Amino acid sequence: MSFLIVANWKMNGTRSSFVDFIGKLNDKGNEITSKLVICPPFTSFSDNVKLNNNISIGAQNCHYKKSGPYTGEISVEMLKELGCTYVILGHSERAHETDSEIKLKSETAIGSGLHPIICVGENAEDNKNKKTKEVMEYQCKNRVPTHGEYTIAYEPIWAIGTGYVPSNNAIAEMIEVIKSSTGKKHIIYGGSVSLDNIENLLNISNLSGVLIGSASLDFERFYKIVQQVEKTYQF
Ligand code: 13P
Repeated sequence: MSFLIVANWKMNGTRSSFVDFIGKLNDKGNEITSKLVICPPFTSFSDNVKLNNNISIGAQNCHYKKSGPYTGEISVEMLKELGCTYVILGHSERAHETDSEIKLKSETAIGSGLHPIICVGENAEDNKNKKTKEVMEYQCKNRVPTHGEYTIAYEPIWAIGTGYVPSNNAIAEMIEVIKSSTGKKHIIYGGSVSLDNIENLLNISNLSGVLIGSASLDFERFYKIVQQVEKTYQF
C-alpha cells in the first residue's frame, strides 16, 4: 500500500487557490508514488478539476443522514457529485460531535462508497494523566465502524497547531493500540506535521501516512514534505 498523505485545509483557501494547487500537483504526477488526498473547504470543490490517478479529493465533514431538514449540512451524495471520494470525520475542531455521531457518519460514508478518515486522539489532560491508551480504546470502540474500508488518523488534540509532537515511541505505541482495537493495519498520524519533523516521523515503522494541516496550505512547503516521503519510501 502507498504511503498516504492527507492535506486538511480546514477553513482556508479559495476555489482558485485549490485549482492552482491541484494543477501544480498534477504537473508533478510522474514524480509522486504516494497517495495524496487534498481536503479543501466545500466551496473549493469543482467537478471539472482533473486529477492524476494517485490524487483524490476529500471533504472535512458530512452528515449521517442522506438528505432532509438539516440546515447548513452536506450529504455524502452531494460530495460524491463533486468528485469527492474521501471524507475526514470526527476532527477535534468539530468538538461538538459525539462518538456515536462520528460512527453514524462513518457508516453512512462507507455505505455510499466514500472512504472516511476517522480521527481519534486524546486531549492534553488525558495525556498528562497517562490515559491515552484508555481514551484510544474507548474512541476506537465507540466511533469506529465494525465493517468497511476506512482509515484511522491518530491526532492527539494537544499536538494540533501547537508545534508539539509526541515522541516516535509514543506514536508507534498508540498505532499498535488502535490496530489491536480495530483490526486495521494502516494508521496515519496528524498534529503539527511539518518539513522540520517529517524525516523523523518517517522512522516510525508502523506509520502508514500523515494528516497535515497548516503545512499543507502552501504548495511549495507541502510538496517538500511529499518529496521527503518519496525519498524515504522507495516504492
Ligand atoms: P496542523 O498540522 O496544523 O497541526 O493540523 C493538524 C490537523 O488538524 C490535521 O487534521
